[in-house]
Amino acid sequence: MAPRRQSRCPGCWWTTGVCLLVASLLPGLRAQTVLVNDTVSGFIGTDVVLHCSFTNPLPSVKITQVTWQKATNGSKQNVAIYNPAMGVSILSPYKERVTFRNPSFKDGTIQLSRLELEDEGVYICEFATFPTGNRESQLNLTVLAKPTNRMEGTTRPLVARSGKTEKILVATCMSSNGKPPSTVTWDTKLKGEAEFQEIKNSNGTITVISRYRLVPSREAHRQQLMCVVNYQLDRFTDSMTLNVQYEPEVTIEGFDGNWFLNRKDVKLTCKSDANPPATTYQWRLLNGSLPENIEVQNNTLFFKGPVSYSLAGTYICEATNTIGTRSGLVEVNVTDKPLPQGAPGGIIGILGGVIAAALIIGVAITVFIVYRRQQKSRTETDNDLIDLPPSHKPVPPPKRKQEMKSHLTAEDIQVVHLDNMKQEEEIQKLPLQTPYYDMAASESSPYSDKLGPFCLPDSSKRSSPVLTNAPGRIDTSTFTYLPGVQRDRQVRLLLD
Ligand SMILES: *[C@@H]1O[C@H](CO)[C@@H](O)[C@H](O)[C@H]1NC(C)=O
Ligand SMILES: *[C@@H]1O[C@H](CO)[C@@H](O)[C@H](O)[C@H]1NC(C)=O
Ligand SMILES: *[C@@H]1O[C@H](CO)[C@@H](O)[C@H](O)[C@H]1NC(C)=O
Ligand SMILES: *[C@@H]1O[C@H](CO)[C@@H](O)[C@H](O)[C@H]1NC(C)=O
Ligand SMILES: *[C@@H]1O[C@H](CO)[C@@H](O)[C@H](O)[C@H]1NC(C)=O
Ligand SMILES: *[C@@H]1O[C@H](CO)[C@@H](O)[C@H](O)[C@H]1NC(C)=O
Ligand SMILES: *[C@@H]1O[C@H](CO)[C@@H](O)[C@H](O)[C@H]1NC(C)=O
Repeated sequence: MAPRRQSRCPGCWWTTGVCLLVASLLPGLRAQTVLVNDTVSGFIGTDVVLHCSFTNPLPSVKITQVTWQKATNGSKQNVAIYNPAMGVSILSPYKERVTFRNPSFKDGTIQLSRLELEDEGVYICEFATFPTGNRESQLNLTVLAKPTNRMEGTTRPLVARSGKTEKILVATCMSSNGKPPSTVTWDTKLKGEAEFQEIKNSNGTITVISRYRLVPSREAHRQQLMCVVNYQLDRFTDSMTLNVQYEPEVTIEGFDGNWFLNRKDVKLTCKSDANPPATTYQWRLLNGSLPENIEVQNNTLFFKGPVSYSLAGTYICEATNTIGTRSGLVEVNVTDKPLPQGAPGGIIGILGGVIAAALIIGVAITVFIVYRRQQKSRTETDNDLIDLPPSHKPVPPPKRKQEMKSHLTAEDIQVVHLDNMKQEEEIQKLPLQTPYYDMAASESSPYSDKLGPFCLPDSSKRSSPVLTNAPGRIDTSTFTYLPGVQRDRQVRLLLD
C-alpha cells in the first residue's frame, strides 16, 4: 500500500516531513493546549473577561465539554459549563454574573460581571476531549479595591509653650480599605514626625493610617501640611494650614538713640507678634513710675512736651494674649545735643576714618604723580593725548575733550560729598585688613561709588579719564580730610 501511495503522490513525502518537523519544534501545537491569561485583575463592581481557548491541531480530537472551576482551599468548585451537545450551565452563586462570550469547540471565554472581593482566586479552564482526555490551564484573578482617603486636623488647639518638647498630634491621614494598600506620605516644610500603620481587614482590604506629630512652635504657625496618598496611578492630596497659638513676642519701636533735650513729639510703640493678637499692653519703667507727661494710647506711649532728662530710663512693655504675657524693654537715654547724623563711631569708626584718610592721601599722591608725568610728556610734545602710552589712552566723551582744551568750567570741579553716616557704616562693614586700593577698585563696593572719580595706583576702571589725562592742574592742596570730625567732608579736584 505505502509504496503505491508514494508513487501516486511524489511530493507528499517531503510535505509530511516538513509537517513533522514543524510539529516537533512546536510542542504546543503537537499537544493540545489551553490558553489563558496568567493574571487578570479588576476593580470591585467592574466586569472582567476570562479568556480561555483551545488549540487543537488534530481534527481527530473532539471536544466534549468546557468547564470553569474556582480552586478554593484545595477543592474545586464549578462555576460554568459548556457542553456542545447539552448547552450552557452556570452554577450558583454565579448564575447572574457569568456568561460564556462565544462558546465553541475552541473558545471557552467567560465574562464575570460586578466583581466582588470574594471572586479573587485561582480559576481553572478545562477542556474535556475525546479520546485524549482533559487539558486545563489556570489563572489568578485579583480584585482591586479603591481606597477612600481622608485627612483631618486635630480638633485640639495647638499651643506653643516654651520649654515644652512634647510632640502633639497635628493631623491624621487615612486611606481606607484599599487593595492593594496605598502609600501615604506627607509634604511639608514642617519638622514633624509621621507614624504609619497598616490595618488588614478581614475582607482582604488594607487601611493605611498616618499620624503627623509636631512640637507646636511659632515657626509652625501658618505652615502648610499636605497629605499625599498614592494608589496605583491615582494621587490624592489634601492639605491644611496650621494655626499655632503662641504668646506675644514684644519689640519696642520709637527710640532712635537720639533723644536730645527739648526734642518734640517722641513716642514709644510696643509691637507684638502674637497669636491670637495681644489684647492688653502695659507700660512701666524698670526703676520707678512712668513720667507725668505721658499719654498711653493702646500700645503707644506718647511723651507730651519736649524731652527732658527725666525721661531717661528702661521702659518695659508687657503684652498679653490668651496664651501668656511677655515683655520687651528699651533703654532710653537723653543727650544734651542732637547727635550728628548717624551713630557714634566708636573704635571701629575711628579705624574706618583712618583707613579713609590713608586712602584719600594715597589717591592724592597718585594723582600728583600722574599729573607730574603728564607735565613731563607735555614738554616733549604739545599733543598729550597722542603721546600717552596706549594703556593709558582713554576714549573720553567728545564733549569732555572740548572742555579740557578750554578753560576750567564748573563741571570740571569734582566735588565728592562723603555722607558721614553712610560712609562710616560702610567702613565698619569693610574688613580692616583689606588694602585700601582693593576697596576702591572693587566694582561691587558701595564705598568706591561714594569716593567717585579717583585716580588709582593700578589701572582701575574707576580712574576717570578726566583725571588721568587732563592737561590741567590738579590742586592736591584742596584735599581736606579731618578724621574724627563729624562734619561733611569734601574732596575737591581742581582742573584747569
Ligand atoms: C488575554 O488573552 C487574550 C487571548 O488569549 C488576549 O487577546 C489578551 O490580550 C490577553 N490579555 C492580557 C491582558 O494579557
Ligand atoms: C478553607 O476551608 C476552611 C474549611 O474548609 C474554611 O474554614 C476556610 O475559610 C477556607 N478558606 C478559604 C480562603 O476559603
Ligand atoms: C496565582 O496564585 C497562587 C496562589 O494564590 C500563586 O502561588 C501563583 O504563583 C499565582 N500565579 C501567578 C501567575 O501569579
Ligand atoms: C472591607 O472591610 C472593611 C472593614 O471591615 C469595610 O469597611 C469595607 O467596606 C469592606 N470593603 C468591601 C469592599 O466590602
Ligand atoms: C534705680 O535708679 C537709680 C538711679 O536713677 C539707680 O541708682 C538704681 O541702681 C536703679 N535701681 C535699679 C534696680 O535699677
Ligand atoms: C486704639 O485701639 C482702638 C481699637 O482697637 C482704635 O479704634 C483706636 O484708634 C486706637 N487708638 C490709637 C491711638 O491707635
Ligand atoms: C544711650 O543708649 C544707647 C543704646 O540704648 C547706647 O548705645 C548709648 O551708649 C547710650 N548713651 C549714653 C550716653 O548712655
